[in-house]
Amino acid sequence: MTLIIAHRGSAGTHPENTMEAFLEAERVGADGIELDVQLSKDGEVVVIHDESIDRTTNDRGFVQDYTLKEIQSFNASYKFKKPFKQPKIPSLREVFQWMQGNQMICNVELKNGVIPYPQLEEKVIGLIEEFHYEDRVILSSFNHYSIVHCYRINPSIEIAPLYSNGLFMPWVYAESIHAKAIHPNIKVITDHMIVDAQKAGVAVRPYTINAKPLMKRLIKVNCAAIITDYPEKAIGVLNAYRK
Ligand code: G3P
Ligand code: MG
Repeated sequence: MTLIIAHRGSAGTHPENTMEAFLEAERVGADGIELDVQLSKDGEVVVIHDESIDRTTNDRGFVQDYTLKEIQSFNASYKFKKPFKQPKIPSLREVFQWMQGNQMICNVELKNGVIPYPQLEEKVIGLIEEFHYEDRVILSSFNHYSIVHCYRINPSIEIAPLYSNGLFMPWVYAESIHAKAIHPNIKVITDHMIVDAQKAGVAVRPYTINAKPLMKRLIKVNCAAIITDYPEKAIGVLNAYRK
């Protein structure tokens, strides 16, 4: 059965990577959330997509130049299309604390392709171990060295390579790095490849699936999960398909 993973929370309807977006994903019944992490100046794991705060907040500058306290004073919905009451950038710890009240899975995307944050992997894994979320967290990254590093630190936590260019037989590549899943851009994977990968035991969780026909197509081929900005819409498509 296809799992529904809310991309940056329910990013199509709520300010991305905020508790508001994650709560919405929970409310609509998503199986999990996807979020992005970077490191603050004081070494805290913070949940934000970009290296800078410019696009999503009311201020400017790099995440790595602000402390967690400073980062949390910014309005993370400033540029969102609808008004929200000043959501803040959460820390990964805060998201993990909230997960104690539900059963959702969490795909943590390590955003270390541009800035090689020292110890990002160790800090994220430290939190996963502290909360005993080894079976609830999937670590992904476009930086495949980083996820292999994660696997070496704690092989019980699932890793998945993200990619957005064509990979030949990606399931063979996945196995070579001990990944049990792949997270491709939907543009670079076909239905046949999804079926072949999953036959080989490698789950496919493409991003970012926002249109109903595409959701339906992926559900039909029993794609392991879809990562979407619109989890409520995806759940509607899934329920209609099951009837
Ligand atoms: O993890 C899937 C997706 O989030 C990867 O791309 O840029 O939205 O983080 P991006
Ligand atoms: Mg992401």
